[in-house]
Amino acid sequence: MKDGKFITLGIESSCDETAVSITADGRQVLSNIISSQIDVHKVFGGVVPEIAARHHLEQINGVLDEAMREANITFAEVDLIGATEGPGLIGAVLVGLSTAKALALALGKPLTGVHHIKGHISAAYLENADLTPPFLALILSGGHTDLIDVRSYQNLRVIGRTRDDAIGEAFDKVARVLGLGYPGGPKIDALAPSGTSGKVSFKRVMLEKDSLDFSFSGIKTGVLNYVNTEKQAGRLFNTADVAAEFEASVTDVIVAKTLSALSLTGYDKLVVGGGVASNSLIRQQFAQECALRGIALYIPSPVFCTDNAAMIACAAYYDHLAGKTDSLDLDAKATLEL
Ligand code: KG4
Ligand code: ZN
Repeated sequence: MKDGKFITLGIESSCDETAVSITADGRQVLSNIISSQIDVHKVFGGVVPEIAARHHLEQINGVLDEAMREANITFAEVDLIGATEGPGLIGAVLVGLSTAKALALALGKPLTGVHHIKGHISAAYLENADLTPPFLALILSGGHTDLIDVRSYQNLRVIGRTRDDAIGEAFDKVARVLGLGYPGGPKIDALAPSGTSGKVSFKRVMLEKDSLDFSFSGIKTGVLNYVNTEKQAGRLFNTADVAAEFEASVTDVIVAKTLSALSLTGYDKLVVGGGVASNSLIRQQFAQECALRGIALYIPSPVFCTDNAAMIACAAYYDHLAGKTDSLDLDAKATLEL
């Protein structure tokens, strides 16, 4: 405890960000340190799991020290250790979780393992003191595209999900096809405004009527076919127009499905999170559609959309309050149901 507040130390290492954060009473961020491996993986065009794990190992102690220093906290003041237990790259998750276990054991503090997607949802609590469940959440990340009925902090039900690629994967793959480099999401975000959607046309894949599921593998193939056809015909094409149409197409789909899910559930609160929720067009379209319908929209600042440990500390706090304390034999998991 510090100044009468419950202190959580959170650790995130499920993909390519080594992150440690300290929060007070769950939602107040005292420090949020993130060491990104983007430059390490850029040369390979994507995250290499073994290299990610090794890099986490090299970074974690330094990131931990910095988070403690910036929060001006001593280990004695920490009340809870939270860490991502899955889903994620197994070797990567293992580094953060093992660090968390070592701290829990050495300090004699409780350990709470966190579902990474619950972390992304909890990111919305950090900047909104008034936000409480129930609400609808849309999580858009590199590995997930989920519509989630958040009935309470603990009772979450996935009501729609991707049947193939995650939306972030589609951004990254399309960027690669267009030769924009890695990670593709931010590159497409930056390029699309200088192009015009509709000059090229990609299909909006809605699946069956009434389905809240997504499919993004088709659009990736659509972009690939278009680019190959143009190249083979020796025609010049405008990369920015392709990026703009791709972005508009996936945005149309996720906005339409989310509005259906809002009607279905009757909620007037929407949380959008995950790395892809930092996309400018997606933020703008949701802001516009929610304003028209009187829906309260919560999209975290970009730093809390992409992987970070503040969201993990916050989720651990609520899980711990609800009685979830894990033993030191907690396993890292590549896949994990919400
Ligand atoms: O949530 P996140 O940081 O990690 C996972 O849990 O997967 O999401 C990473 C994904 C990557 O696919 C990345 O390209 C995408 O988020 N991303 C974006 C933007 N920033 C990150 N996609 C579109 N626009 C962005 N501005
Ligand atoms: Zn994530």
